[in-house]
Amino acid sequence: MNRLAPCDRRLLLQLALASTATLWLPPSARGQPRFSSNPFTLGVASGSPTHDSVVLWTRLLSPSLLDTGRGQGAVTVRWEVAHDEQFARLVQSGQTQAEPALAHSVHVEVAGLAADRWYFYRFIAGDATSPVGRTRTFPAAGAAVARLRLGYASCQRWEHGYFSAWRHMREENLDAVMFLGDYIYEYPGAANAVRPVSGGWVLTLDDYRRRHALYKGDADLQAMHATCPWLLTWDDHEVQNDYAALHEGTGVPFLGMVDDFAARRAAAYQAWYEHMPVRASVLTQALGGLARGAELRIYQQVPFGRLATLCLLDGRQYRDRQPCLKDGKPGGRLVDPAACPDWADAQRSYLGRAQEQWLDGTLARSGGQWNVIGQQTLFGLRDARPGPGQRLWNDGWDGYAAARTRLTDSLRKNAVANPVLLGGDVHENWVGRILADYADVASPTVGVEFCGTSITSRSGGNAKTAERLAENPHFVFADAERKGYGVAEFTPKQLITTLRVVDDVTRKDAAIETLARFVVPAGRAVIEKV
Ligand SMILES: [Fe+2]
Repeated sequence: MNRLAPCDRRLLLQLALASTATLWLPPSARGQPRFSSNPFTLGVASGSPTHDSVVLWTRLLSPSLLDTGRGQGAVTVRWEVAHDEQFARLVQSGQTQAEPALAHSVHVEVAGLAADRWYFYRFIAGDATSPVGRTRTFPAAGAAVARLRLGYASCQRWEHGYFSAWRHMREENLDAVMFLGDYIYEYPGAANAVRPVSGGWVLTLDDYRRRHALYKGDADLQAMHATCPWLLTWDDHEVQNDYAALHEGTGVPFLGMVDDFAARRAAAYQAWYEHMPVRASVLTQALGGLARGAELRIYQQVPFGRLATLCLLDGRQYRDRQPCLKDGKPGGRLVDPAACPDWADAQRSYLGRAQEQWLDGTLARSGGQWNVIGQQTLFGLRDARPGPGQRLWNDGWDGYAAARTRLTDSLRKNAVANPVLLGGDVHENWVGRILADYADVASPTVGVEFCGTSITSRSGGNAKTAERLAENPHFVFADAERKGYGVAEFTPKQLITTLRVVDDVTRKDAAIETLARFVVPAGRAVIEKV
């Protein structure tokens, strides 16, 4: 793929670091452009909250950036954080540079905030002011907390429907959103598309930027970003369907269209960074910044007081290749594990050894009453063959059985309190008990799992759901039709998870309803449908 813009890693790292800090600039250096159109068309967002800091994000995108020749230069952006929506009681303000090398994105890391409180924020560039966003800090580690309301969602394929789910999520009174992957899709379109995507296959840095900008232009998605802080991880479609680390996945129609997957992944990762409210440290903690094929370090943990420890995992970037590929060619598929020698290979990893060790250490030290692990996909074994024998999906945890058992071993060894796994990817709601060893159905339950449906992405429907539930009795509920999100409300006594679904994903004005609700009492890994 020779259409990739070359990127200067050192420059990008410097810019990423510089853009997070408050810069002192002499008045003459302050760009005061007059924009002929609103440069804040992609909205605002906040993310990666801690007890005293949060990342504020925006990206300037306006034809007038190019009109004025500023498409080539940096633009000074002022930011403000206030106690009130009118910005009468200012808490902090500063300015930063929106750099063209990072697509005029802004990642401000506001520090020194008070714990456990809500703030308002906005950006000003020249004569333009952004929409107002609302965000919050988390309670300090160890602080007593009465409640955490956490939304979780994934898989928002543009052409499969409208983002009405996000509009309804604004009314859920959430403290934070966990986004669990497939923020964009890289396809040129879909059969029976509800709305068209522009730009064809997404392959280059420019392509990825344009696709992110298309999605970020959606008013409902923007509004939810402006409502509370988000914690984000990714899955495959932020780069390419079913890719594994530096192994290419599937989807590109013509052989030879992409001849350098490492460069494509670097472009996709850079565009993801540019569009997400994440810390510059995802670049600077990485082994090699944005160099071709280098790491982008996005796995993380953050306490929400004493009540919960929230972990976000990265199951794409470090994994071994899927086992038993068809004729050695990429792509997820159902496999009979008994006929696949690699299936039980204990050396194969899903998170990579470094992340596995990090997670084990994080869980060992966690003081959270609940331990929430947000990750990409369904965790529990899901056998698609009724009766004797198995057919398992090789692209999810089932294809990495030894790595899955290392994670459940870590939960047991560290006596982790109340583990709750949240997931996405399968475009279906699956709720179940986490078994210590899925090879032994009688093994103890070590936690609970809520794998969410999609915001829009299609799934196969409920024809086989009852059969699959019967075949995999550690799951207590499944639905393969409805689209939406989940709300997990944690208190010291219990977790209540509510599955919220829209009535028609093809309608912009879709209504929301509750599909099911579950209670998990603290200290007991049981799931009661209520
Ligand atoms: Fe998806």
